[in-house]
Amino acid sequence: MDEGVLKKYRLAHDISDDVIDFARPMIKEGARIIDVAEKIEKKTREMGAMPSWPVNFSINEIAAHVTPDIEDQTFLRRGDLVKVDIGCQVDGYISDRAFTICVGEKGHPLIETSEMATRAALDALEPGVTVSEISAIIEDIVVGAGFRPIRNLAGHSMSQNSQHEPPTIPNSKTNDMTVIREGTPLAIEVFTTDGSGWVKESSPTTIYKFLRDAPVRMPEARKILEMAKNDFEMLPFATRWLNMPRVKMGMALRQLLEAEAIEAFPPLKEEAGGMVAVYEDTKIVL
Ligand code: CO
Repeated sequence: MDEGVLKKYRLAHDISDDVIDFARPMIKEGARIIDVAEKIEKKTREMGAMPSWPVNFSINEIAAHVTPDIEDQTFLRRGDLVKVDIGCQVDGYISDRAFTICVGEKGHPLIETSEMATRAALDALEPGVTVSEISAIIEDIVVGAGFRPIRNLAGHSMSQNSQHEPPTIPNSKTNDMTVIREGTPLAIEVFTTDGSGWVKESSPTTIYKFLRDAPVRMPEARKILEMAKNDFEMLPFATRWLNMPRVKMGMALRQLLEAEAIEAFPPLKEEAGGMVAVYEDTKIVL
């Protein structure tokens, strides 16, 4: 990997370390999620990085892809299993991180299992190892702890301005013999659950992403498309960032989805309603 690129990945990772240290103490009983989310995004920018996506706050049986909307009045309650997913990028080079906190408690077996499996997989990542070997390490730890990995969520590589690139690292055993090569950036994200081990799409969606220019009639739709391209640099954005009357915004987003100008990221919910934890870290395989 190019020395300059490696430096940017490392800087993004260092910034994400600081952002996580800043975020953790705020995840406590009585905190209003939207306030915490906005502080985290502001901190990311102050540190000299761009948020690669709106900070995700997914609670209990929701695994991922939730960020508070502008009128969200959710406060954290004792016992909530809160998954915080943070992306920091420097010149498009991303550090993809997530952690889970059980509000008001010292820990939770699902959290410990996710962390243990993620760390074991990261330790085993070296040039020449196969996807199949890494996935087996993850599943063995999770199943050994008495839980299930979420089978339709996976670790992944990435590249400049792209959050997801092959290879994919499933959290359950696979025959994929793809060899991990030197210089591959990889995010390992082990989702664990006491439910079925599958997530399905839910609602309401609060995260979208630019796909392509398309002719749309509503002025609000055209405005969103402009913002998605210019202000949000084609990265995933939050409805909270649009600053638009809600009814019109909803209609405009529907029009953009129909025109395939934007992509929706609906909340991902554990199919059987099980609790979900995640731990994610990014590493350059060297
Ligand atoms: Co990720």
